[in-house]
Amino acid sequence: MLSVGSFVAGVIQEGDSMKALVLAGGEGTRLRPITHTSAKQLVPVANKPILFYGLEAIASAGIEEVGIVVGETEAEIREAVGDGSAWGIRPHFIRQERPLGLAHAVLVARDFLRDDPFVMYLGDNILKEGIVDLVREFESNRPNAQILLAKVPEPQRFGVAEVDDAGRVVRLIEKPKVPPSDLALVGVYMFDSTVHEAVASIEPSWRNELEITDAIQWMIDRGLDVRSHLISGWWKDTGKLEDLLEANRFVLEALEPSIEGKVDDLSSIVGRVVIPKSAVVKNSVIRGPAIIGENTTIEDSFIGPFTSIYYNCTVRSSTIEHSVVMENVTIVSIDRIEDSLIGKEAVVSRDLNLKPAALRLMVGDHSQVKLP
Ligand code: DAU
Repeated sequence: MLSVGSFVAGVIQEGDSMKALVLAGGEGTRLRPITHTSAKQLVPVANKPILFYGLEAIASAGIEEVGIVVGETEAEIREAVGDGSAWGIRPHFIRQERPLGLAHAVLVARDFLRDDPFVMYLGDNILKEGIVDLVREFESNRPNAQILLAKVPEPQRFGVAEVDDAGRVVRLIEKPKVPPSDLALVGVYMFDSTVHEAVASIEPSWRNELEITDAIQWMIDRGLDVRSHLISGWWKDTGKLEDLLEANRFVLEALEPSIEGKVDDLSSIVGRVVIPKSAVVKNSVIRGPAIIGENTTIEDSFIGPFTSIYYNCTVRSSTIEHSVVMENVTIVSIDRIEDSLIGKEAVVSRDLNLKPAALRLMVGDHSQVKLP
């Protein structure tokens, strides 16, 4: 239960107990091979796991009781979230045996949610404007459900809403071949307890998942109050590489610059750049927006705009631009890496003495290597 003293910006009134349900299970097929071994919600964007942006947003809205739906990567998610004290939240991990859909996640969280209103937040979504105002709007209007919509160029990749002239949602369809509008469902939803009957009443979809989209349609069909809110700031579902890189770009653009690490006289740092105390930069150019992780060394290299390099990495005699590099990576003598995501512990290097001159690869399942 929330105590009045913990509320931020008066979002929740006394006696209410708004909860959050964060979805951090699922499979992450579009980010393979990274997600063969790790949770897609823990891939870093601007050197912070995607999931943490959601937890921050939830904490800022004054919500403390947070159910986190987990699947096979439960151990990793538990370790990353810990006891939640970093955000002032109390996490409750809820195991979903198989990723049977977003509405199925609500079903398995029934005991945690009880009849309390809640925000459902998809763990791979990042929303610029956060959720403080949205929770406030839900609290004051008290509809049965509140959904968020965003105009997107490729609506067929999302749940899509058809809205009438008065702005009311009349129909929701999951990933339609012919989208009725360009309004995508954002992965943040607010519900009261009526959603439980909805998720228990629907049937699995063509992709054999219990879709939250169908549950909300069920609510609309029964005349329940389902409201929508068109978001104005950027929003990203980071499930695909291009979207992940774009989210990285958006977050880096708003970065607070700070240079604390060792940067030698031969190096130059331009624009919004973060270099923490334990990082070292030698004879290199770092052109922001860019972020370098703890204990990372950059030597004789050019790190271009929109690049995040995580902790314990070594980059030597290389050029990297518009990319995300995860922890413990070594990159040596590579002319130019662009638009790339490089997984943990990877080594990408050039050895001019290798004979015959040929690529030598140990590339994981579902990897993509593109050569010019
Ligand atoms: O991002 C917005 C979109 O999210 C909406 O427009 C769609 O209507 C909605 O269905 C959803 O589509 P996705 O296909 O992108 O959902 P995905 O399978 O990627 O799952 C979203 C998050 O929920 C992700 O962090 C994994 C987690 N998840 C997913 C499933 C299917 C679970 O925890 N359990 C599950 O059973």
